[in-house]
Amino acid sequence: MYNFDEANSRIGTSCTKWDRYESRYNLKDVTALWVADMDFNCPPEVSKAMIRRAEHGIFGYTDPTEDCLQAIIDWEKRHHEIDVKKEDIVLTTGVVYAMYTAIEMLVKPDEKVMVMTPVYPPFFNTPASLSREVIYCPLILKPEVRIDLVKMEEQLKHDSSIKVLIFCNPHNPVGKSWTKEELRELLEITDRYGITVISDEIHADLVFQPLRHVSMLGVDQKYNHHIILLGAPTKTFNLAGMKISYALIPHREMCTEFAKRAKASGLSSINIFGFEALTAAYNHGDVWLKECLNYIYENMVWLKGFLNEHLPLCKYDVPESTYLAWVDFSGYDVPDNFAEILKFEGHVELQDGRGFKDSDGYQRINCACPRATLEKGMQRVVSCMKEKGWLS
Ligand SMILES: Cc1ncc(COP(=O)(O)O)c(C=O)c1O
Repeated sequence: MYNFDEANSRIGTSCTKWDRYESRYNLKDVTALWVADMDFNCPPEVSKAMIRRAEHGIFGYTDPTEDCLQAIIDWEKRHHEIDVKKEDIVLTTGVVYAMYTAIEMLVKPDEKVMVMTPVYPPFFNTPASLSREVIYCPLILKPEVRIDLVKMEEQLKHDSSIKVLIFCNPHNPVGKSWTKEELRELLEITDRYGITVISDEIHADLVFQPLRHVSMLGVDQKYNHHIILLGAPTKTFNLAGMKISYALIPHREMCTEFAKRAKASGLSSINIFGFEALTAAYNHGDVWLKECLNYIYENMVWLKGFLNEHLPLCKYDVPESTYLAWVDFSGYDVPDNFAEILKFEGHVELQDGRGFKDSDGYQRINCACPRATLEKGMQRVVSCMKEKGWLS
């Protein structure tokens, strides 16, 4: 049994989540429930593998090991039921960087990219930074999350310059785990209009039972030549600082071209510790992940109870996947800068939903932390809202 109630303090490690308050804002004692990494220690087997490698003492240029590629193949088979060929794997130093490379490769400067909002901001910021126009096809959020297939088809029919759909599977921030049928309907349309799908599956391992992640590459072989899957062990095992991820590209020429670009830009030049971390996590992390997911799920359920009791006008359903709770605060008369006020006056940081587009009133709350941290943060939200007179 792993103990997720306790973790090393991250303060003083220059971590993005906790360590910028004092240096940037001269703020002390803020509870950080924002950026998407965990506050849990990673599996001990991963730390041990890295210590073993560190003890060797020589860290020159290093190629991907066969073990590392095999670990990806085994993991994808065991957890997502897909058969990955070694030659379809391109190791990368981050999913967003891989997305950037794929967009640059597939979309000419006068062509366009489709995204489904609300969504992780690099989905629209990355194409925009490459001067590729972004076409928005918002998700239908109520009464339940759905892809707006009708709107999507209309947009594709009327604009043949849309070449790529960037899709989040499962979805950050709404926590939706897409079914095979939903993905099949989506792929039927993208196939009809010659669209390539970049499927970001970084949250694939964080689906709560009894649901199971459906890989975009596991829907139907006939669509796989138009899919680039981006995967990583980094959300799953809290390894974001390791900068290790991978692209799976069954289309041979597309894969060769992507690998060529990745090599030229340094994208595929992986840190030694990245190989070690991925291999150890994928080969030895199953039990840790199962227990970690149970713990996160319990945090999600606790949050539901807490909101029902203290903030009953918040709308929130325990998500199907991810460790990110997506909470609608619009029942309360809070100002647009609610998240800022919580941070600077309430000493708790949530992730302002507006950054994800089409989500006014929402806050994203990171539940991958010891329960005590989540409780403290949520108590601070309530205290701040009381002080401001937003709760009667
Ligand atoms: C959907 C999604 N893709 C990619 C990333 C970031 O991946 P990387 O750090 O490998 O660039 C995140 C991080 O939150 C994410 O939620």
